[in-house]
Amino acid sequence: MEAAMPMPIVRTVRDLRAVVAGWRRAGDRVALVTTMGALHAGHLALVEEARRRGDRAIATIFVNPLQFGAHEDLDRYPRQEAADAAALAGVGCDLLFAPPADEMYPAGFATQVSVAGVTEDLDGAARPGHFDGVATVVAKLLNQAQADVAIFGEKDYQQLLTIRRLARDLDIPTEIVGHPTVREADGLALSSRNAYLSADERARAVELPRAMRAAADAIRGGQEVDSALLAATQRLLGAGFSAVDYVELRDADTLAPIRRLDRPARLLAAARIGSTRLIDNIAVNQTLCR
Ligand code: PAJ
Repeated sequence: MEAAMPMPIVRTVRDLRAVVAGWRRAGDRVALVTTMGALHAGHLALVEEARRRGDRAIATIFVNPLQFGAHEDLDRYPRQEAADAAALAGVGCDLLFAPPADEMYPAGFATQVSVAGVTEDLDGAARPGHFDGVATVVAKLLNQAQADVAIFGEKDYQQLLTIRRLARDLDIPTEIVGHPTVREADGLALSSRNAYLSADERARAVELPRAMRAAADAIRGGQEVDSALLAATQRLLGAGFSAVDYVELRDADTLAPIRRLDRPARLLAAARIGSTRLIDNIAVNQTLCR
């Protein structure tokens, strides 16, 4: 039996392109998953999806300074490349691209990608500049990897729509695929930021998906949208969340606010527990709507 090859790690765009060019010459379909590391089962599910959709899967790890605000957690963002590389190899990832910051943003770097519309409120309002940072780095990663398909989590729903838009607008030929949110057994969405929660905060955090599910059910059952959203906010504050940035019902494609469930909708929320900010979103379909 042939011994498994260790998963290579490349750190330059030149080396990444050389590997991908070889695969392409062999006729392989290439799938990409971009991450900031501190990998959990949600990220690994994207890599497994990449394996299903391509002959070769690439993962990237880059903690992108451009998408962190001045008072955000760039410095304390968890970094654990060796453990991440082992986890990626374990799900059959073929290549890890983990560039240093000066490979992504060398001296003189001056271009910013900015997507209007879908970025303008929700997390865009709460985190000024965040989606410009995401759009800029993802445009670069898509161009660098030249993959046939790239998988992004629905966990970051506004980000997913932003990336779909930028790929369309910039004629990036990579197909953008969304993957459902992977959750803990109690319903909390997996997130690298869950590691910041104390045991007590973690126990309270489960109220976020519960309050959202209750609001979605109430809206589907005919309750007025505003009152269902307000009830969810009050439930979170009552459960010990320190602030609720938003709980909103939006058009699932455009993120335009909606007052009635007359089209595919998404319930999106962001709330703070202690110093940790959690986001989540769920589909609210019309099947049970009168
Ligand atoms: P990061 O937060 O590391 O997430 C990497 C990818 O994993 C994103 O597509 C995200 O939506 C997905 N993901 C995270 N948690 C998930 C979960 N519980 N279930 C399913 N998918 C999940 O998102 C980013 O990094 C960055 O903004 C990035 C796109 C890499 C640009 O820097």
